[in-house]
Amino acid sequence: MHLTRDDERVLAGEEGAGRQKAMELLVALGDIFGAERLIPVKSAQVSGASFKTIGDAGIRWLEDMSKGTRASVPSMVNPLGLDVRRWRSMGISKAFHDRQARIVAAYRSMGLLPVYSCTPYLAGHRPRRGQHLAWAESSATVFANSFIGARTNREGGPSALASAIIGKTPEYGLHLDENRLPKIEVNLPSIPDGLVPLAGYLAGKAAGNRIPLISGQALSEDQHKSFGAAVAATGGVSMYVPDRTVGHRKSRDIDRSMIEERITIPSRELRRCAGDLSGGDEWDLVAIGCPHSSIREVARMARSLKNRRPRKDCDVWFCTSRKVYSSCPQHVATLRRFGKVLCDTCMVVAPIEEMYERTATNSGKAMVYLPTLGRQKASFRTTDQLLEAISR
Ligand code: F3S
Repeated sequence: MHLTRDDERVLAGEEGAGRQKAMELLVALGDIFGAERLIPVKSAQVSGASFKTIGDAGIRWLEDMSKGTRASVPSMVNPLGLDVRRWRSMGISKAFHDRQARIVAAYRSMGLLPVYSCTPYLAGHRPRRGQHLAWAESSATVFANSFIGARTNREGGPSALASAIIGKTPEYGLHLDENRLPKIEVNLPSIPDGLVPLAGYLAGKAAGNRIPLISGQALSEDQHKSFGAAVAATGGVSMYVPDRTVGHRKSRDIDRSMIEERITIPSRELRRCAGDLSGGDEWDLVAIGCPHSSIREVARMARSLKNRRPRKDCDVWFCTSRKVYSSCPQHVATLRRFGKVLCDTCMVVAPIEEMYERTATNSGKAMVYLPTLGRQKASFRTTDQLLEAISR
């Protein structure tokens, strides 16, 4: 890989051991993937932020990396294992909290922003079309690539942190035009109410490692958010090409020359999938907000619940970013009558297996990770079904 003179100096350790380590990591990655050079990134988003996912070894690595290094581009962090302000009410142990606090301290000392969310693009850090990024969260990378038209590979936690420190990333994969072409068309002619996450769930399975062109029913921005999260959870790619839903990407701009297969997922298959994933009817927890809810979603839920009373049969978590939380206090107050409105964390990276066994969610992505990472018996329901279940 070609390195500039400045890159060489960093690699030689002339700017300190931390920056040297970060550069070594980026150079190794570039060599593995055949990148020709490093390119500047506008921002980084780092995963590996919950103590549950990185453990004591991760803390030691982060504390080691943090000595004398600073982020050189705006850099955000994925959700933590707890809400930094309301962790006690979540039932989080002091031991977990104290380890999580060391992770937060390490990121803060490197100058990463205290934005602990999988939706940094809704929390004041929305990239522009064409910008290069080094983002790690799978749902955020798919949204940035597919809906916004920015360019990022799905980074690992260490490579995203290295990019945050150096401000560059190796130019390979989704940074290059030729790797952003759809290979399979997935047609979704009609998606029943509330089943967009399952459309993503099935589209990701069908696409596997191929970028899908998604045609059929138009989706809103919030629907793209939940659709893409599920695509990235069941599929192996961090991008899809929306056919007719995004203003800046008209159908005629899409290069279909590489499409090798076309499939249609009819609405009856989405309903069948909802049945297959429905699980049981009794839950310890209802978890909404994967990915973190937008202001529009919070407002819509608050309007639905406004004239209803809580049922209190189980705990309820509404997960969102701190930015959204503080932007709509009245709606948040309504939701808080029905459950906890949590920031900085989510149902997958919090240690819910220590508190609950059966969780219901409206998220296609959470249906992939709740049974594995969260060791839950998971049930899929639409948002409306969940709101109905928690209220009367
Ligand atoms: Fe976000 Fe957690 Fe879902 S990080 S996308 S809410 S699994």
